[in-house]
Amino acid sequence: IQVPEPVNEPVYDYAPESKEREMIKSALSELSEKQLDIPLIIGGKEVRTGKTGEVVMPHDHKHLMAIYHKAGPDEVRLAIDTALGVQKMWQSYRWEERCAIFLKAAELLSVKYRYKINAGSMLSTSKNVYQAEIDAACELIDFLRFNVYFAQQIYREQPVSSKGIWNFVQHRPLEGFVFAVTPFNFTAIAGNLPTAPAIMGNTVVWKPASSCVYNPYLFMRILEEAGLPPGVINFVPGSGASVGDICLTDPNLAGIHFTGSTAVFQKMWKIIGENIESYKSYPRIVGETGGKDFVFVHSSADPDQLVTALVRGAFEYQGQKCSAASRAYIPKSLWPQTSKKLKNEIGRIKMGATTDFRNFFNAVIDKNAFDTIKDFIDSARKSNDSEIIIGGGCDDSVGYFIEPTVILTENPVYRTMVEEIFGPVLTIYVYDDEEFEKTLELCDSSSAYGLTGAIFATDRAAVSTALAKLEHSAGNFYINDKPTGAVVGQQPFGGGRASGTNDKAGFYTNLMRWVSPRTVKESF
Ligand code: SER
Repeated sequence: IQVPEPVNEPVYDYAPESKEREMIKSALSELSEKQLDIPLIIGGKEVRTGKTGEVVMPHDHKHLMAIYHKAGPDEVRLAIDTALGVQKMWQSYRWEERCAIFLKAAELLSVKYRYKINAGSMLSTSKNVYQAEIDAACELIDFLRFNVYFAQQIYREQPVSSKGIWNFVQHRPLEGFVFAVTPFNFTAIAGNLPTAPAIMGNTVVWKPASSCVYNPYLFMRILEEAGLPPGVINFVPGSGASVGDICLTDPNLAGIHFTGSTAVFQKMWKIIGENIESYKSYPRIVGETGGKDFVFVHSSADPDQLVTALVRGAFEYQGQKCSAASRAYIPKSLWPQTSKKLKNEIGRIKMGATTDFRNFFNAVIDKNAFDTIKDFIDSARKSNDSEIIIGGGCDDSVGYFIEPTVILTENPVYRTMVEEIFGPVLTIYVYDDEEFEKTLELCDSSSAYGLTGAIFATDRAAVSTALAKLEHSAGNFYINDKPTGAVVGQQPFGGGRASGTNDKAGFYTNLMRWVSPRTVKESF
């Protein structure tokens, strides 16, 4: 049996007057008008607890899109019991039958629900149509198709045998349930974290971020329509503490698949550490966390290429990508022309609701994010170490809007050069051209993170030096390109240091974490 050779899902451009533009517009009006009542889904059954949270549009926060029910301790325990209870049934499926369900879900996303899931992303998380398309449609479809393909590679990989002896490895699912905890910023990641373990035969308890329940719910329904048996993935929105504490301390916890903040991941790791004697097996801990992603510029760089990458790398989706460029090191010789071009380009950016397709730039996710980012900007305004040279305006009267902001600093360890902000703020440090190597060392040593980074240079020797000096500074390293937008199957994604366990989403190395191989030797 050979699964279909995956190809990346083509990206639609939604040009004015196109059929796609009309389709997405009608999906947007349909979802804007209808309010959803989002239940928990445990063992295929809808559960309503009456304790609810709200889904509002970040760019129009008085507009309620849905209420969602929150799990309490009883529902979390039920979800765990259900996941454990269906394990044998799910494992009795042949792997190609499991895979067929996820390939079907990819097909449904591609041909039937593309506009709906994109509209959900545009309205509930304030992504423009292009950002929605590359994430909620294309990247999620790619995760499903490529993971199935990588699963096949894993199952096929076998040790050698010899005369009179047959050796083989059975890639068993983990013993216990997997706890998937997903972020607000990518529907694709939210969909990948529960499905990757499920493809490998595991059953899952899935807690979506409270700031992003809408699209995960739409995807959960798609999985059901694709034929996912009840209980394989159990959808339990709720507070981190109430869902997390129960899942993390359950003796049957077999793994966590997490994307979110470094602080939460470290807290989860500590809880697991404190309870280590109580688990049946050592839980697999797989996480992708924060970043302080850099763009490093050599004096040989092409300034036009650089400015486009800075603008897109730092400000697409309002800088709310863990991969977003948030610090840049620019040589003095290039600074005058770079700053002029940067001001021009950012000056052309239109900000507003996602329903107006001219807006490249939209709102940040919620009030918490707005307040945190505004604090960084306010303190940069007051500090002697920094100067806001572009943007800096914040207004949450209608939506959570923060202008694309550029800070200039002469202090390479100023807080916005080293702390994660997770918003549309880029800090620039201008260095003396002759201090290229020294500044590379500074770039490496001044951040605790290691997720993404880019070098811009036309001089090959400069590229080589950067690759060597920044060896562990980024798990995804870009040469003359922005540090965002990894494509599944092309650039496996993830980083080390405080940025995560670097198990590479969308690659066989991630799927390997969801199996516990048994080696069998038979002598004849
Ligand atoms: N995979 C995304 C990117 O590369 C971030 O999670 O931008």
